[in-house]
Amino acid sequence: MTQTVEHVAREVPTGPAILEVRNGGKSFGAVHVLRGVAFEARAGEVTALVGDNGAGKSTLIKCIAGIYPFDSGELYLDGERVTITDPAHANSLGIEVVYQDLALCDNMDVVHNLFLGRELRKHGFLDEGAMERRTAEVLASLSVRSVRSIRQHASSLSGGQRQTVAIARAVLWNSKVLILDEPTAALGVAQTEQVLNLVRRLADKGLAVVLISHNMNEVFEVADSIAVLYLGQMAGQIRAADSNRGEVVELITTGTRGAGGVNLNGRATVGSATTSNDGSKA
Ligand SMILES: Nc1ncnc2c1ncn2[C@@H]1O[C@H](COP(=O)(O)OP(=O)(O)O)[C@@H](O)[C@H]1O
Ligand SMILES: [Mg+2]
Repeated sequence: MTQTVEHVAREVPTGPAILEVRNGGKSFGAVHVLRGVAFEARAGEVTALVGDNGAGKSTLIKCIAGIYPFDSGELYLDGERVTITDPAHANSLGIEVVYQDLALCDNMDVVHNLFLGRELRKHGFLDEGAMERRTAEVLASLSVRSVRSIRQHASSLSGGQRQTVAIARAVLWNSKVLILDEPTAALGVAQTEQVLNLVRRLADKGLAVVLISHNMNEVFEVADSIAVLYLGQMAGQIRAADSNRGEVVELITTGTRGAGGVNLNGRATVGSATTSNDGSKA
């Protein structure tokens, strides 16, 4: 099923910033991987997080997901400041991440993969019936029809189906923020479209979806907002509708855009407002 993602360009933000990082910093030893990073994701939107290899994208989401603590800065969820202590804490706050390597268990079926580590139990025993019903429900609610049987082993799934199952696992738990680290990197054209359609539908259901991607075509196809990391600093977070590939590529490769544009030592445009981006020592 190949279809074009329906991208509704939005002039104004559709929801409040459900997730916001202010002045986020992270070092590994002497290496400052993130410096003064501002980042936000809104409900009902796809926020693309882009940047060259090593820019700090994965580190930023790992800090948001509780895998590493930020060394400095603040994180707000629904406007409330939170300190995320570990991944289970992030999950309990409605933050779910689908990592690049996907970590599905090949020798388990779709149902068991969806509930891996969070199995439903009744009287101490696995509640297979309830997990099976819930799996069917969540796949149907995501309009996923390509998975033949929810009792098939993950080893028999295609790359796109694996990604779909990993995403379904993440949205099973009333998540508010869904972070996807390069979900289409290993996929062909048709499967990429399927996953992008799913990404768009999830945002349309009200989730704040953060999509890490290298692919400018898919970024402009599906994203409402684009955040560009450059050498650990946020070069800018801009509305997709107000931007273009050339500008984003310039931000990715140089950290600035045009004369009088974003300057890491100065100010970056976020939406229509101007926000200081100088959390780091310039
Ligand atoms: N656990 C770690 N220890 C030391 N350095 C790390 C660690 N994780 C990431 N880095 C470094 O941080 C930088 C950013 O990495 P990463 O966040 O993976 O970038 P991206 O996802 O944008 O490619 C890289 O220079 C990488 O080598
Ligand atoms: Mg990465």
